[in-house]
Amino acid sequence: MKRIAIFASGSGSNAEKIAEYFAPNPDVEISLILTNNPQAGVIQRARKLHLPVVVFDRKSFYETNRILQLLQNQHIDLVVLAGFMMLIPEALVAAFPNRIINIHPALLPKFGGKGMYGDFVHEAVVAASEVESGITIHYVNERYDEGVIIFQASCPVEPTDTAANVAHKIHALEHQHYPRVVEEVLNSL
Ligand code: GAR
Repeated sequence: MKRIAIFASGSGSNAEKIAEYFAPNPDVEISLILTNNPQAGVIQRARKLHLPVVVFDRKSFYETNRILQLLQNQHIDLVVLAGFMMLIPEALVAAFPNRIINIHPALLPKFGGKGMYGDFVHEAVVAASEVESGITIHYVNERYDEGVIIFQASCPVEPTDTAANVAHKIHALEHQHYPRVVEEVLNSL
C-alpha cells in the first residue's frame, strides 16, 4: 500500500481529481488532505470524499515539526502539492527527497517564482501576449518552482483569451494529466 498526502490551499479541484482517480485502486490510499486555509474549498471536497483533513497555521508549519511528524507517523510515501501556496520548509524537503511534487499552472521556467501562483500566473501570461501556456509538474525543493521537471503539457493562448479563459484551459490540462503523473511517480518509488 502506497500512501499519499495532498496539500492544497484553495478550491481543491486537482486534489479531488487525484482522489477520484485512485479511489478504485486498492494499492494506493489518499491518507490525508492538508491545508493552511480554514476557508479552502478543498475541505468540503475532502469531506464529500470521506478523506481526513488537517488544517494548520503558518506558525506551526514553519516553526514546529508538527506537519513533518504527522507525515512520518502516517508513513506517507508521496506528498502531492495541488494548489498549495506556501513554500515547503527545508526540513520537510530534506525528509522527503524526491517525494514531494508540485503542479504549476505555466510552462516553467517562465512565469514561476514567488508571487506567481493561481490567477496571477494567467494574468501575467495574457499581459505578456504569450501564444501558449501550459502546466509543469516538478519535484519540490526549498525554492519556489525550481525543482527538476517531471512533465509539461501546453495549450494555445489566443489573442482574445482573458486570464479566466486561460485558467479554464489550464485546469482542464491539470485534471487530465496530474493524477496519471502522480501514479507514475508513485510507481517509480
Ligand atoms: C492550479 O491551477 C495549480 O496549478 C495552481 O493553483 C491552482 C489550484 O487549483 N498552483 C499554483 O499556482 C502553485 N504555485 P485547484 O485548487 O482547483 O486544484
